[in-house]
Amino acid sequence: MTTNDQMTRREFVKGAGSAVAAASMLGVGPAVAQTPRRRYAIVGTGDRATGMWGRPLVKEYADVIEFVGLCDSNLKRAEVSRQMIGVSCPTFASFDEMLDRARPELLMVTTVDAFHSEYIVKALDRGLSVMTEKPMVIDERQCQAILDAEARNNRTIVVTFNYRYAPKHQAVKELLMSGEIGKVLSVDFSWYLDVDHGADYFRRWHRLRSGGGSLLVHKATHHFDLVNWWLDADPVEVVANGSLRVYGSNGPFRSSNCRPCPHKKECRFYYDMTRNDTRMRLYAACEDVDGYHRDGCVYREDVDIFDTMSAMVRYTNGATMSYSLNAHMPFEGFRVAFNGELGRIEVRDHERQPWSVPAAEATEIYVTKSFGMRRRVEVTQGAGGHGGGDTRLRDLIFRNSEAPAHMRLPDSRAGAMSCLTGIAARKSIDERRAIRIADLVKFPGV
Ligand SMILES: NC(=O)c1ccc[n+]([C@@H]2O[C@H](COP(=O)([O-])OP(=O)(O)OC[C@H]3O[C@@H](n4cnc5c(N)ncnc54)[C@H](O)[C@@H]3O)[C@@H](O)[C@H]2O)c1
Repeated sequence: MTTNDQMTRREFVKGAGSAVAAASMLGVGPAVAQTPRRRYAIVGTGDRATGMWGRPLVKEYADVIEFVGLCDSNLKRAEVSRQMIGVSCPTFASFDEMLDRARPELLMVTTVDAFHSEYIVKALDRGLSVMTEKPMVIDERQCQAILDAEARNNRTIVVTFNYRYAPKHQAVKELLMSGEIGKVLSVDFSWYLDVDHGADYFRRWHRLRSGGGSLLVHKATHHFDLVNWWLDADPVEVVANGSLRVYGSNGPFRSSNCRPCPHKKECRFYYDMTRNDTRMRLYAACEDVDGYHRDGCVYREDVDIFDTMSAMVRYTNGATMSYSLNAHMPFEGFRVAFNGELGRIEVRDHERQPWSVPAAEATEIYVTKSFGMRRRVEVTQGAGGHGGGDTRLRDLIFRNSEAPAHMRLPDSRAGAMSCLTGIAARKSIDERRAIRIADLVKFPGV
């Protein structure tokens, strides 16, 4: 097994299907290649913008991208982000002003999830090429607005589902495409968020449905997108359960945030942000403007999302999935299994745990054939964020790198189908009934 090697370009391209110009659907890929230094802007300049869509672009893609504007509702944070990214472009608190004055051609949307759709629609109506972080939207009304804006402008956005580009997830896709286990009949999928990462969502705007649509949307959009892509199918109907059992009002005490908290010593979720210089600069130093505490208390009474969730999803190909997401686990990772007509593929991914897992064992994939033998599938681990997905995704977008057809950039349909699964799950919990995806939005032209 090869581990901790960055997957080479050749390995990325190999696999089923012929190589295609992967970024062609974006409308920015080929143009980036042909027209050096496309005018690039970002809206929402927090951690993700600065670390994924800012600094690395200056370091690695400065020949094709020119930063012309950074916008954030907190101008102070936009300015700190600008310094961290290392560019000299202007910063804006008003998105309209940025579009008017900076005249970007390409926009990256990395705001709080609830505001993605507003900026995507505005940018499409102004003729920009748009990329957005997941989740594309937090409700069906926002989803419809984006689909309609694309249709009237004859443009397609890209939803940057980096998980697809982690070599381990690509390996699963290619195993399923090989037909080795035949038609997939059902999927068992459990995602484990640990008491660090899982708790972190309850510190911030993600704790509110109005911010991130609940973890069934904010987080599970990654997982639902992987399943849609792995199965090459769309969700049809969702039934779900969810509850809040650990965070929010379940806590024995509470405060506004960790730094001034009188319960530091007794709180198992105490987070000392003062030890993180980047966060102190990007968040603590700017919180006087908007009151955004990056180390907010996980026990605040206003938490209105779930920390314990499960869903049953039925797909267009007849497969079903039983899914669970828990945000208070002692370890981080996932387990997924595909039950096929001819066998079963099982994956156990170890991301972080209080015992040692050798790098070579971090992702275990087994194929067991019915009436046959079990074999272990070797997987190359990717270097960089999100299992190597972040770096490969950037290369695909900004270098117009070649990739097999199944690795092409995800579009609004993928963004919609994955968000709608979570939106339907949330609605199912609220209304205690099965929700059909087709009842949520109308895809133009369908
Ligand atoms: N693909 C991934 O793996 C991944 C990882 C992390 C975050 N994300 C996504 O990236 C986005 C940003 O996440 P983050 O962790 O950097 O969050 P963050 O809270 O650190 O940053 C969000 C920024 O948006 C700004 N903002 C809030 N409301 C705004 C508005 N109306 N207009 C303009 N700016 C506004 C905030 O001031 C903040 O600076 C989210 O959509 C998140 O889901 C994706």
